[in-house]
Amino acid sequence: MANLLIRSAVVACLLVCCQPVPAQTKLSTSISSPVAVRSSLSNAASEKKVEALLQKMKLEEKVGQLVQYSAGQPTGPGTGRTDYEDMIRKGEVGALFNITTARQVNEYQRVAMEQSRLHIPLLFGLDVIHGFRTEFPIPLGLASAWDPDLVARTARVAARETSASGVRWTFSPMVDIARDARWGRMAEGSGEDPYLGAALARAYVRGYQGERLDAPDSIAACPKHFVGYGAAEGGRDYNSVEISEHTLRQFYLPPFHAAIDAGAATLMSSFNSLNGVPASASPFTLKQILRREWGFAGIVDSDFTSVAELVAHGIANDGAAAARKAFLAGVDMDMVSSLYHENLEHLVRSGEVPEAAVDEAVRHVLRIKFALGLFEQPYADETREAGAMLQPESLSLARTAAERSFVLLKNAGFSAGAPVLPLSAESGVIALVGPLADDSKDMLGSWAGQGRPEDVITLRTALTQRVGADHVRYAKGTEIIGGSDEQSAEALKVAEQSDVVILALGENAPEMTGEAASRAHLGLPGRQEQLLEKIVATGKPVVLLLFSGRPLTLPWALEHVPAVLAAWFPGVQAGPALVRTVFGEANPSGKLVVSWPRSVGQEPLYYDALNTGRPAVNIDLTRPPKNTEEKYISRYIDEQNSPQFPFGYGLSYTEFRYGNLQIDKTQLSAKSLNHNLHGGERTASAAIVVSAEITNTGTRPGDETVQLYVQLRGTSVAQPVRALSGFQRVGFAPGETKKVTFALGAEGFAFWNEQNKFSVEPARVTLWISPDSSRGSEATLQITD
Ligand code: NOJ
Repeated sequence: MANLLIRSAVVACLLVCCQPVPAQTKLSTSISSPVAVRSSLSNAASEKKVEALLQKMKLEEKVGQLVQYSAGQPTGPGTGRTDYEDMIRKGEVGALFNITTARQVNEYQRVAMEQSRLHIPLLFGLDVIHGFRTEFPIPLGLASAWDPDLVARTARVAARETSASGVRWTFSPMVDIARDARWGRMAEGSGEDPYLGAALARAYVRGYQGERLDAPDSIAACPKHFVGYGAAEGGRDYNSVEISEHTLRQFYLPPFHAAIDAGAATLMSSFNSLNGVPASASPFTLKQILRREWGFAGIVDSDFTSVAELVAHGIANDGAAAARKAFLAGVDMDMVSSLYHENLEHLVRSGEVPEAAVDEAVRHVLRIKFALGLFEQPYADETREAGAMLQPESLSLARTAAERSFVLLKNAGFSAGAPVLPLSAESGVIALVGPLADDSKDMLGSWAGQGRPEDVITLRTALTQRVGADHVRYAKGTEIIGGSDEQSAEALKVAEQSDVVILALGENAPEMTGEAASRAHLGLPGRQEQLLEKIVATGKPVVLLLFSGRPLTLPWALEHVPAVLAAWFPGVQAGPALVRTVFGEANPSGKLVVSWPRSVGQEPLYYDALNTGRPAVNIDLTRPPKNTEEKYISRYIDEQNSPQFPFGYGLSYTEFRYGNLQIDKTQLSAKSLNHNLHGGERTASAAIVVSAEITNTGTRPGDETVQLYVQLRGTSVAQPVRALSGFQRVGFAPGETKKVTFALGAEGFAFWNEQNKFSVEPARVTLWISPDSSRGSEATLQITD
C-alpha cells in the first residue's frame, strides 16, 4: 500500500497542467523513466548470473563483497588499514570509496579482475553531492529553484564527470527532511517539505542513473541517510531522534520512498538512533519498510563506521555484536568499520547469522555490480577523464542553476526611492566589501567534491569584468572569524568613497556548514555584524549578499539593510551569476525551502506544523502578553511564532498578482477516493481541478513558482495547517496573465491515519494557490463518507 503513495504522487505530478516554461538547455544524454532503471536493477538474465556466481563463492568471498573501505582522503575516523590491495586479491573487499581518478580506480580494479579468484569487480563510490568538478550550488540552494528538471540536469553533469573518473556510485542525494537550521547538514538536502523533497529526490536519481544504469556515464544513486537523521535533537549532528511512526511515514519517509521508486540502486543507513534503536540496526525501517513495503532490491550501505558506532550507542558490547545486529537488521555493506570483515564469517560458522542471510546481502551487491555493467566494463576509459570536466555547457548550467537558486529576501527603496536592486549601469562607483567578496574556496560549499577554488569565478572578478576596475573599490573588511580594526577602517573608507555598497557576508564552508557543523548561534559569525552596522551607518545604499548553508538570524540587518539576497553557496559560477542578478540580467526567482527563523529559540521551525489546541489567532505577538487571553496560548512571551520569512517565500524584480481561484468540485467522497487510491483499478484521473489566474504586474519578465497547499480538518489524526501538494515554476512576460491549473488526485487528500494506513477520511478541506506558505485566497470543499 505504501508503494501506492509514491506512485500516485508521480501520477499527480504528471497530471499537473503545466504552462510553458522558458526553454532550457538540452542534454546530450536523455533522462530515463523510473521504470527502465528499476527493471535494469533486476532482470531475469542478470539474476541468473548473480545466482551462478553466488554458487561459486566461498563464505569468506561472500563476506568480502559486504566490506567497504575508504582508500582515499578520509572523511571521518578511519580504521588505520592500508593493505587494500592484498585484501582485494583475497576477495576480502567489495567496494572502495574516496578514490577520485580513473588511473587509481583502474589500478585497484586490475587487482580485483586479474588477481582475485572470482574476478568480481570492485564498486567505487564517492560523495558527489552537488557536482564532481563542476560545482553547482549546494543542494539547499538548488532546491530553492523549485525545478526538478534543473536538478536532474545538474545530476546528469555530475554523473558524466564522476563516471569519467571511474567512479560509478555517488552517496547522494541526501533526502533528509530538515526542520532545524542549527543542523549543519540542512545545506545538503532539499529542505523541510516532503512533497518538494520527493519531487527532487526523483529528479536526482533520474539524473545520476540516466537512461540505463549500465551506460558508461551513469552512476548509482544512494539516497541517505535512512532515516530521521535530520531530526537530530537540538539540531546537534549525530544526536538521537524521536519520531512517531505517524510522523516518520507522513513527513520523513516520502523523499526516500520517491528515490527508491525512481529506481535508486543503493541506500545509506544513518548514524542516529530512531526511537531508541540506531537506524543502522533497525529491522523495522530497513526490512519492514524498505524491503517488504517498498520492494527495494539494491544495496543498503552503512554510513561511515555506523556499524561500529552501535557500541557507543549502547546496543552492542563488542564489535561482533555490533556486526551481528547491523547485519541482521538489514545493513548489507559495512562502510569503514571493518567489523563485517572481522566477524561475519565467524558469526555464520557459529550459527548466529544464517548463511542464507549473507547470500541475500551478496545478491544485493552483485545485482548492482551487474546492473552497472561492471563485469563487462570494469575499467574506466582514462582518455575520457580530462575532457569530461568543466565543459562549456556544464558551466553554463552551473550559472543558470546558481541564478535560479538565489532568494531575494528584501528589496526596499533607499531614502524612499525605487528598490535598490537591480543596480543600473549608472549606479556609479561600487564598494565591494566582505570576507566572501573575493572568495573562491567557500563558494564551493560543503562537500565540494573535486571542485577546485581555481575553477571559481569570484564575485570581485566578475564585478570588475562587468563594470571595469575604475568602478569597483574592494576591501575585505574582516575575516569570517577574526579580523582587525584596520580591515574594518579600510572598508568604511572604501564605502564612503563609493555610491553603493555590496556586502558579501556569511559562513565559511565546510567549517560552519555541512557535516559536523551544527551551530547553537545563527547570527553572522565573527565581526561581520559589527562591520555591517558600521557600513549601513555611512548612509550609503547597501546590498547584502548572504552566503550560508542555512538561514541566519539577522533581525537588525533585515530591518536596516534595504536589499538582501540569500545566495547560499553558488558553486563555480558564483561571480557571473551574482553579477547578472545584481544588475537585473537575471531576475531572482528562488523561493525558500526552509522557514527562515527570527531567532534560534524558534527552532525547529517548519510551516507544515499542527495547529495545537491553543493556536495564537488574531493576537499581536510582537509584544508580551497583556492578559490571560494573550498569555495562555501556544506562543513565546518574547518572540513571535511566525518565521522571519515563510517556507515558499522569495521576491522578484517584478510582481505577481494572484486572482480568480477556481475549483471544479465542492464535494468528494472518501469511499471513492480510497477506491482510487487502493483499488485494483486505480486511475490517473484527477479528483479535483483547481486553478488561479496569475499576472505579472511589473515591467520585467520573471519566473514565479506557484504553490498549491491543502489543509484537512476533522480527521482521525491532526493534519498540518498547510501541506504543499503541488507546485509549478511558470515564466511570465511583463503584463502577462496565465491560468495555472493543478489536477489533484486521491493522494492529495490522503494521509497516514491513526492506524498508520495511508488513506482518505471524511474531512473539511481548504486549498490555497499562493506565492508562499503564509498567504493566498482559499477555496473549500467537503470530503463526505
Ligand atoms: C559520512 C556522511 O554522513 C555521509 O553522508 C557520507 O556519504 C559518508 N560519510 C561517506 O563519506
